[in-house]
Amino acid sequence: MKGGKLVCLGIESTAHTFGAGIVDEKCNILANEKHSYTTESGGMIPREIADHHLQWAESVLKNALQKAGVGIKDIDVFAFAQGPGMGPALKVGAVATRTLALLHNKPLLGVNHPVAHIEIGKKLCGSRDPLVVYASGGNSQIIGYESNCYRVFGETLDIGIGNLFDSFGRELGIGFPAGPKIDEMYFLGKTLIELPYTVKGMDLVFSGLLTVASKKAKSHSKEDLCYSLMHTSIAMLCEVTERALAHTGKKEVLLTGGVACSKALQKMFQEMCDARGVKLFVTPPAVAIDNGLMIAWLGLLMHKSGVKMSVSETRVNQKFRTDHVKVTWKV
Ligand code: FE2
Repeated sequence: MKGGKLVCLGIESTAHTFGAGIVDEKCNILANEKHSYTTESGGMIPREIADHHLQWAESVLKNALQKAGVGIKDIDVFAFAQGPGMGPALKVGAVATRTLALLHNKPLLGVNHPVAHIEIGKKLCGSRDPLVVYASGGNSQIIGYESNCYRVFGETLDIGIGNLFDSFGRELGIGFPAGPKIDEMYFLGKTLIELPYTVKGMDLVFSGLLTVASKKAKSHSKEDLCYSLMHTSIAMLCEVTERALAHTGKKEVLLTGGVACSKALQKMFQEMCDARGVKLFVTPPAVAIDNGLMIAWLGLLMHKSGVKMSVSETRVNQKFRTDHVKVTWKV
């Protein structure tokens, strides 16, 4: 129930998930509803994802308001994920949120999706100044706050690590998302198969790994291949994170994004953090995967710091970079 505090509704629609979250300024989670696109086989098709979001938008929104015990008129601020993401999917969330904000004459804010992951992860884990490992289907970045900006210290130069797992899952005939099934198989693998390990400076390249692992799909067991694919790619991510820790001197690592739910990833990062005397925070699964709550929370932080946007400033931005956001709120 709303109790005199500012309340923000956030809508997420950058990729497979349409989510609606409602939060107040004390970060009381009033609702976090979502519905995600999945397939039995094959990957994500942007047009089908947009159709999915259109189909589920109304019920997800209604469920969120009902769960929160508030009416649409009780919402003080409307926020949506402005990017990065898939254009057709982003537009569904943008149009829905603009319509609601204009109809009810309330502030409208477009927010950066990775920064939303970071802020809700920090808040819920109690992490203050972490090096953030944002690992998902579309993104893989090592990020740290410095001088009013979340700086990207290293990132993928081609596909996200989650995309690597999902694409490889397609080779094995696993539907979307394949990551959780590959993560289970990681722990059943016994033999490490040599695969390309590609770290370029502080950046990562995963596509060669995918090509070689796919070529070996017929000559090795699924378990050994999943183990080797995950081991190699996560070790690459770990190496860059470790170097960024040495460079920044940060004492905390925060895992977020859908791939943060991977037990294989958590295990290897825990070992690396223990060896360096760094504290590891793992964002809870419901908030590590894409969700509306994180969009609402960042929208609220931005609103309270005085950010205002006209409708023309809320155009979706498929390539909205983490380090292009000026941090105006207290971190
Ligand atoms: Fe995400």
